[in-house]
Amino acid sequence: MKIVTTLPELRSARRILPEPVGFVPTMGTLHAGHISLVQAARAECASVAASIFVNPTQFGPTEDLARYPRDLPRDLALLEAAGVDLVWTPTPEVMYPSDFQTWVEVEGLTRPLEGELRPGHFRGVTTVVAKLFNAVGPDKAYFGQKDAQQAAVIRRMTKDLDFPIEIVVCPTLREADGLAMSSRNTYLNPDERQAATVLFRALSAAKSAYDSGERDAEKLRALVRDTVNAEPLARLQYVSCADDDTLEELTQVTGKALLSMAVYVGKTRLIDNFVMG
Ligand code: PAF
Repeated sequence: MKIVTTLPELRSARRILPEPVGFVPTMGTLHAGHISLVQAARAECASVAASIFVNPTQFGPTEDLARYPRDLPRDLALLEAAGVDLVWTPTPEVMYPSDFQTWVEVEGLTRPLEGELRPGHFRGVTTVVAKLFNAVGPDKAYFGQKDAQQAAVIRRMTKDLDFPIEIVVCPTLREADGLAMSSRNTYLNPDERQAATVLFRALSAAKSAYDSGERDAEKLRALVRDTVNAEPLARLQYVSCADDDTLEELTQVTGKALLSMAVYVGKTRLIDNFVMG
């Protein structure tokens, strides 16, 4: 596995990779969810490239950039074991030189949900992903369903900017008790870790109501709200039942819809979702 930091190093290593190239962008602190993206890329592509970069521009001023967990040696060992061919670990100076002043912004899809609560977050995500796509030039790029809005926004950007890249969205990987895998789970103390199962319990309550025929979006949201409110260590930030394409809130679920939520467990903000229809 080749590890590179600078752009010239990346470009020359990329040039000799057999095509098609699958790409897995990450912020490190890898877990089985990331490895499942690598495995999907490995199964579909002749070469797999990954990046590890904790992107400062997608963190808000009160968010956890300094505290964000980092463990490069462990991440590199996991990527090597998963069969990655090339890893790019750019520094903040490589990605954002001091005179940097160009941003990539998707409009409508970034307004609700995460976009409303985390101003500037998606501008940081789309800018860095556009730069990663330009530099790596993959044929396919792999993202997790847990960050459903991020995947939708990146798909939009890829289409709007004519990147010749197929966006592949892979299923959320879960712990045995249903908690969606996330690098942020490492922040949870044992009591919070236990309480964090409330996200999956809330989604499961809504899912079984949906499976039994409930199509009233507000009733599905209320099931999530009631389940989360019953957990003393959890605080619901939002629950949404929205059209899966436009992310506009629904009154009735008639087609494909996204039930999504953000919950604080202690000081840790967790998100999860499931797709109906
Ligand atoms: O999902 C993530 O880990 C990040 O948002 C991404 C896509 C690597 C961009 O920094």
